[in-house]
Amino acid sequence: MTGRATAIARANIALAKYWGKVDEVLNLPAVPSVSMTLEPMRTTTTVTLDPALASDVFELDGALASPKETTRVATLLAEVRAEAHDRTHARVTSRNSFPTASGLASSASGFAALATAARAAYGLPRDDRRASVLARRASASAARSVFGGWVELPAGTLGDDSLAAYPLFGLDHWDLRLVIAVVTEGRKDVSSRDGMGVSRRTSPYYDAWVERAPRIAASVREGLSKKDLATLGAATEQSFTAMHALAFASTPFTLYLQPGSLAALATVRRLRDIEGVGVYATMDAGPHVKALCGADEVEHVARALGDTPGVLRTIEAVPGPGVELT
Ligand code: PMV
Repeated sequence: MTGRATAIARANIALAKYWGKVDEVLNLPAVPSVSMTLEPMRTTTTVTLDPALASDVFELDGALASPKETTRVATLLAEVRAEAHDRTHARVTSRNSFPTASGLASSASGFAALATAARAAYGLPRDDRRASVLARRASASAARSVFGGWVELPAGTLGDDSLAAYPLFGLDHWDLRLVIAVVTEGRKDVSSRDGMGVSRRTSPYYDAWVERAPRIAASVREGLSKKDLATLGAATEQSFTAMHALAFASTPFTLYLQPGSLAALATVRRLRDIEGVGVYATMDAGPHVKALCGADEVEHVARALGDTPGVLRTIEAVPGPGVELT
């Protein structure tokens, strides 16, 4: 029997960042992270079982993926095959609606969609917790993209492979917006995996980060629960600045900021400090600046970021649903 399934997952933005692993083999984060799932930043993935294949085939955005990317996909498929007791290999086609691997979290939506589509294609029952575990082994932020709205992935414990994300609040909890200031269309040079490995091994600020991150995550949770943008925004900015500072202080230094990122951060500060707009910045392992604000301010924020030198375009996102099987 040939199975086939398609899943759609959204990217997510971590307000409290995951950066650093407590277990590199099992891919377990050293710190808790809290995210918002983003509509309309989608990955659509189809998994088709094909008895004629001698190994898995992975096509990303219309082209055959690199051997490294294919290995990560094949590793996830192998786990699903073991659970399903089915040795058939599969063809995987995946499409992103936004730039791949440039700090826009395409691996998060990609592995969440893959885990869900693969389980369905191999005939396993829908189980979001299990899909989150599978996705987390491939890319920890992907564990969060299985769920909609506001999602937490707790810190892991060395040797415990059962870690999954879980939803904190549904997508209707709070109509917050995220404006992404796209600074480059190219692929980034230091992957988050490599960047956080160098931070852990060499940054003098790594231990302070691991010690501090749970309190930042608690403030993010509190801001979300009270719908208090000032509390949420302050914690969100502390999380990304601490993460980038510890990465920058590693050897060799890891710098994700580009001139356009600095200009966009200055715009966010100007909007807030001079114009009194409730807007807060965050950044991931890439140069794009992401601005969090209320629905009433989103047009103004998007225009100001769009007019910022070095910003190529902006994308507006709203809280999105969890993974869907089509
Ligand atoms: O899951 P990874 O390996 O792509 O790492 C994600 C790291 C950040 O995006 C910087 C933070 C996060 O929690 O998403």
